[in-house]
Amino acid sequence: MNMAAQQIAAVEAFEQDVLSGLSASRKTLPCKYLYDEAGSRIFERICELEDYYLTRTEAAIFAEQLDNIAARLGEDVVLIEPGAGNCEKAEPLLQRLVSPSGYLPMDISPEILLAARARIQRSLPDLEVVPAVGDFTSALIWQRLPATSGRKVVFFPGSTIGNFTPDAASELLQLFAARLRPGDGLLLGADLVKDSIVLERAYHDSEHVTEAFNKNLLHRINRELDGSFNVDNFAHRAFYHSRRQRVEMHLVSLAQQNVNVCGRTFLFEEGETIHTENSHKYTLTGLQALLNSTGFAPRQYWTDNQQHYAILYAEIH
Ligand code: AVJ
Repeated sequence: MNMAAQQIAAVEAFEQDVLSGLSASRKTLPCKYLYDEAGSRIFERICELEDYYLTRTEAAIFAEQLDNIAARLGEDVVLIEPGAGNCEKAEPLLQRLVSPSGYLPMDISPEILLAARARIQRSLPDLEVVPAVGDFTSALIWQRLPATSGRKVVFFPGSTIGNFTPDAASELLQLFAARLRPGDGLLLGADLVKDSIVLERAYHDSEHVTEAFNKNLLHRINRELDGSFNVDNFAHRAFYHSRRQRVEMHLVSLAQQNVNVCGRTFLFEEGETIHTENSHKYTLTGLQALLNSTGFAPRQYWTDNQQHYAILYAEIH
């Protein structure tokens, strides 16, 4: 498919997902659509917030444990990174690994991947960097990965796993495992269960950046799908659901109102919500069980002293 055809297919998928999500009895929208260019920029601001402890806590664990993590991964590793974005997290790790054999970043944005490859090749001129453009949850992109000789390690930081329900997370890890052989690894970053006040503050920050991130989805629908959302008629809501072990993000309708999207009309009752994102939290035991049940043997984990966040290394049995 050429670029134009790809873009048309992407808009059609967005349209279908939005129309079906808004037609459901509990309205919902897939969280992946939060991350268009504007959304990704807002997300970068979230990562710098005082209230959003995840990014800096993971970065601190990496900074402190980089030598141990690199030693644990071993020599001649081919690092595969689903959803690599600008590849900023992999770069220091690649620099610390002993004679890495390759780096295979995957992302839906070709521009970001190509810019990142140019940057990495300047700092690591001997490393083979082979980007793959596409959705890492689809089997297609994994089948297209080049055959490599070295040991493979899938690098999946950022608590991206939290966006998946436990069933979907388990399917995703099995998709990773299907491309790996015994002894190959997975380096996973995940947010841990903690005090609900800390969790809720991270997703309902005092600077209202998460609110802007959530509402950007409505602006995007207005822009790309001829939507008529009056964004001021919706409020940002985020709460921790302790039984489901997840923070849910919603947009709450502040009045009874009709909204048009792609020529169709949707009625919102006052107080009705659109569920826009889940952010699942795990215990260390829960993570180890998830790994074990998907073919991975947990080998080691690293956390911060408050046990807010964990990085785990596991290998295929
Ligand atoms: C990118 C999925 C890790 O769940 O913490 C942050 C997304 N949403 N604030 C998370 C997010 C609202 C983030 N992840």
